[in-house]
Amino acid sequence: MDTQRLHLFSLTLLSLLYISTSFLPTNNFLLNCGSRGNTSFYNRIFIADSAKRSVSLSAERSVSLTDRNPSPNSPILYQTARVFTTDSSYKFNIKKNGTGTHLVRLHFSPFQAQNFNLASSRFNVVADGFLLLSGFNAYNLLLKEYILKIDGEVLEIKFSPVGDSGFAFVNAIEVFSVPKDYIIDDGAKLVSGDGIEEYKNLTSRVLETIHRINVGGLKLTPFNDTLWRTWIPDDGFLVFKPAAKRAVATHVPNYQNGGATREIAPDSVYMTAQQMNRDNLTLNGWFNITWDFPVGSLGAPHLVRLHFCDIVSPALNLLYFNVYINDYSAYRDLDLSMLTYHALSSPVYLDFVAHSDDSGVVRVSVGPSDLSTPSKINAILNGVEIMRLVNLKGLHAGSKRKNVWILVGFIFGGFLIFCLAAASVLLAFKCKKKKPKPPRRVESAGWTPLCVYGASSYSRMSEGTVTTSQGPNGYHSLRIPFVDIQTATNNFDKSLIIGMGGFGMVYKGVLKDNTKVAVKRGVRGSRQGLPEFQTEISVLSKIRHLHLVSLVGYCEEQSEMILVYEYMEKGPLKNHLYGSKYPPLSWKQRLEICIGSARGLHYLHTGSAQGIIHRDIKSTNILLDENYVAKVADFGLSRSGPCLNETHVSTGVKGSFGYLDPEYFRRQQLTDKSDVYSFGVVLFEVLCARPAVDPLLAREQVNLAEWAMQWQKKGMLRKIIDPHLVGQIKPSCLKKYGETAEKCLADYGVDRPTMGDVLWNLEYALQLQESGPEEPREGSNMNGMDCPTSSVTPFSNARTERDDGTGCSDLTTSDVFSQLMTNEGR
Ligand SMILES: *[C@@H]1O[C@H](CO)[C@@H](O)[C@H](O)[C@H]1NC(C)=O
Ligand SMILES: *[C@@H]1O[C@H](CO)[C@@H](O)[C@H](O)[C@H]1NC(C)=O
Ligand SMILES: *[C@@H]1O[C@H](CO)[C@@H](O)[C@H](O)[C@H]1NC(C)=O
Ligand SMILES: *[C@@H]1O[C@H](CO)[C@@H](O)[C@H](O)[C@H]1NC(C)=O
Ligand SMILES: *[C@@H]1O[C@H](CO)[C@@H](O)[C@H](O)[C@H]1NC(C)=O
Ligand SMILES: *[C@@H]1O[C@H](CO)[C@@H](O)[C@H](O)[C@H]1NC(C)=O
Repeated sequence: MDTQRLHLFSLTLLSLLYISTSFLPTNNFLLNCGSRGNTSFYNRIFIADSAKRSVSLSAERSVSLTDRNPSPNSPILYQTARVFTTDSSYKFNIKKNGTGTHLVRLHFSPFQAQNFNLASSRFNVVADGFLLLSGFNAYNLLLKEYILKIDGEVLEIKFSPVGDSGFAFVNAIEVFSVPKDYIIDDGAKLVSGDGIEEYKNLTSRVLETIHRINVGGLKLTPFNDTLWRTWIPDDGFLVFKPAAKRAVATHVPNYQNGGATREIAPDSVYMTAQQMNRDNLTLNGWFNITWDFPVGSLGAPHLVRLHFCDIVSPALNLLYFNVYINDYSAYRDLDLSMLTYHALSSPVYLDFVAHSDDSGVVRVSVGPSDLSTPSKINAILNGVEIMRLVNLKGLHAGSKRKNVWILVGFIFGGFLIFCLAAASVLLAFKCKKKKPKPPRRVESAGWTPLCVYGASSYSRMSEGTVTTSQGPNGYHSLRIPFVDIQTATNNFDKSLIIGMGGFGMVYKGVLKDNTKVAVKRGVRGSRQGLPEFQTEISVLSKIRHLHLVSLVGYCEEQSEMILVYEYMEKGPLKNHLYGSKYPPLSWKQRLEICIGSARGLHYLHTGSAQGIIHRDIKSTNILLDENYVAKVADFGLSRSGPCLNETHVSTGVKGSFGYLDPEYFRRQQLTDKSDVYSFGVVLFEVLCARPAVDPLLAREQVNLAEWAMQWQKKGMLRKIIDPHLVGQIKPSCLKKYGETAEKCLADYGVDRPTMGDVLWNLEYALQLQESGPEEPREGSNMNGMDCPTSSVTPFSNARTERDDGTGCSDLTTSDVFSQLMTNEGR
C-alpha cells in the first residue's frame, strides 16, 4: 500500500517534468466573458471577451455581470459572466492553416447579481450549426466540452434564451485547435450485437465529452494535461472493486509512431492502470474487470476511447486479453505487443462506437483471453474517454426561422427518445410476455455526469423532454413537493441525519400528517444515483408487504432525487448484531427477524409483483421497526427479472462484497438464487454476530461464508456462535438453522433452495426451538441429536404457499408456523 503511494508520488514528480513540452495550438481563444480584465486560470490567460481582437461579439443586448459576493474559492474567471437577453453570438476567426479539429469548452458557474439569478436561466447553444445544448439550465458549476471539426473561416457560437427565464449566460469560453489526428474518420469500430463493423465519418459529428477517466491513477487537472483536460479516477465506476488492482509504471511511456501521443493522453494516464487482482484468494480463476459509466442518454451512440499501455508485462507477447463493451465482444485476444510494433510500455488507444443501454449506461470490461498462458492471465486498462455523438444539425437562418427549427429539433429529439423508450419497452415485452418492465422515465434521461474542475456534478439537460411520466404505474401520486420535505426535515437539519449510503444522506423527518419518515436525499455527485432512484420508485410503488419497507413518496424537483420511506425505529439489523451499543438480540428475536426478511424476499421473488431480484441483500438492508419486525429495504439495484427462468445474462454484476453470489459473479447470470446466497450469508452473520467480511481477522476467517461453512461441514457450528447466544439455542434448532444456511450457500444456484423453502425451514427451526423438552446442551455432539422429522423433510418441495401481501400466508403446511409468527412477531 505504502509503496504504491510512493510510486504515485514519484509519478507526480515525473509528470511535472514532462508537462514543459507542451502543445501550441494554432488557434487559441480563451475568453473571460463579461469582464474588462484578463485573468489567469490554470496558468493560461483568459482575455476579456470585449478585448480579444479575433473574436467579435454580436449581441443586440448583453450585460456584463459581476459577482459581488463570490465564494472564497471561486476563481476570478467565474466571478464574471456575460448575460444575453436576446439571441447573440460570438464569432471566432479561424486560421485556415489550423488543423480543423477544435476543442470547445463552455464554462458555466451561476451566481446571483442585479436582477439575474443565473441558475434559473434556460437557453440553447448552437455551434457551427450543431445544437450543443438545448433548454439548458446551469444550476451548478458545469463545464461542457465538445470536439468539432471546423471547415469554414468563422466559428459562430450562438446563445438563445428559451422559456420564461428570458436570458442566457456564459462565464468563459475556450476554443483551440488540437492535433489533426485527434479524431480520425476511420478506425473506430461499431460494437453491437450484430458483430463489429467500421464506423464511418466520425469527424462529421460533434463529440461531447461525458467521461474522461485515468484508470488506476489519480485525478489529473489542466495543470497535468497537455490539452488542459481533467481526468478523474475510475474507482467510482468499478462494478466489483476487489477484481482490480492498480499498476503503476516507474518509467515514462515509450511513445511510438503510429501509437498514441502525449496530446491523445498525457503520460500520467499511461503510467497507471488497473489489472486483474489475482492475489485475491476469493477470486479464483477467470474473471473480468468491469466498469459501468452512466451517460445519461438511453440508447445513444457514444465514442468509447480506450487507452492502453502494457506496464505490467516483463516481456513482449505475454499479455493477451479480451475487451467487451456493453457485454459485446469489442476486441478479442488483444495483444498490445502487436499494436505497438513490438515495444513494451508503449501507449496506444482504440476507438469504438457503442450505444448506451436502456438504463443509460456504457459498460466496459476487460478479461483474460483463451490465448493467455495460464500462469500469465491478466488484462489491463489505462484510460477511458466516453464522448456522445451529437448529430442535430441544420439550425441556421434567421431568428424566427431558427426558433422554429429549434422547436423541430426539440420535437424530433423528443420523438427519437420516445421511440427508443418505446422500443425498449417493446423489447421488454417480447422478452417477458407476462410482466413488462415499467418504461424508464424518459423525463429524467438528461442527467449527464461530467466532472468539472473541482467537483463532479450532474448536469441536467432537458433535451427532447417528453413528459410521459404519468405512466401506467401512477408514480406521480407519490410525488411530494420539495417544500414539504424541507419542512419535514427542518431543511435537512444535520442533527436529523440517521444514516449515510452510497446514494446520499438519510434524514429522520415528520410529514404534515405527523407520519414519521426516513428521507433519503441523493447527492448530485452520486454517479449511479439516477438509475437506482428510478428502480427504487418503480419497484416500491408497485408492491406493498409487511416485510418490505414501504415507499411513502418521492421528490425530483429542482434536480433533487429524494425518496421518502416509512420510518424504521430500530434501524438496520446489523447494528443489533455487532459493533454498536445496542443490547444483543435473543435467539428467538433473531429467528423471527430472519423469518420476516425471508418472507419479504419470498414475496419479492414470487409474490404478486412477480420475479423481482433484490441483488443487494445484506444485514444493513434489513431494517427493524419499533417491534423488531424485519423489513427488507434498498431496492435500488433490484431487477424485475424479465426471464427469471431462462438463462438471463445480467447487465450488471452488482451487490456487496462478502454477500455476492460467486456463481453470479463468475457467469454474470442473474437469478433469484443470488439473493438466496446473500441471505445465507446474513443467516451466518446473525448466528455469529460478525461482519460478512472482516479484513482484520486471520486469513481463513476473513470471509464469513467460507469460514462458517468449514465449521458447519465439520458439524461444529456451535463453536463459532455469538457468545451471547451460548446456552440459548436448542441443538436441533441450530442443526436445522445451520443446514438451511449451508444450502443457501451452495456453489451452484440450482443446488440452493428457493426463498420459500428457506422460509419454511426457518419456521421449522423456530418450532424446534419453541417446542419439546429438549435442553440446549453445551458441547454436545449434535450429530444424532436431530429431531427425526427434519431428516425426512429436508427442503420440502411442497411450497405452494402464496402470500397476500399482509405477511400472512393463506394455506398449506407452513400455516401453523406462520400463525405462530404473525401473532408474536410484533
Ligand atoms: C498535477 O499538477 C498539480 C499542480 O502542478 C500537482 O500538484 C499535482 O501533483 C499533479 N498531479 C499529477 C498526478 O501529476
Ligand atoms: C489583456 O490581454 C490582451 C492580449 O494579450 C491585451 O491586448 C490587453 O491589453 C490585456 N488587457 C488588460 C486589461 O491587461
Ligand atoms: C498559420 O498562419 C499564421 C499566419 O496567418 C502563422 O503565424 C502560423 O505560424 C501558421 N501556422 C502554421 C501551423 O503553419
Ligand atoms: C461522410 O460525410 C460526407 C459529408 O459530411 C458525405 O458526403 C459522405 O457521403 C459521408 N460518408 C458516409 C459513408 O456516410
Ligand atoms: C481482496 O478483496 C478484499 C475485499 O475488498 C480486500 O479487502 C482485500 O484486500 C483483497 N485482497 C487482496 C490480496 O487484494
Ligand atoms: C467477461 O464478460 C463477457 C461479456 O459479458 C463475457 O462474455 C465473458 O464470459 C466474461 N469473461 C469472464 C472470464 O468472466
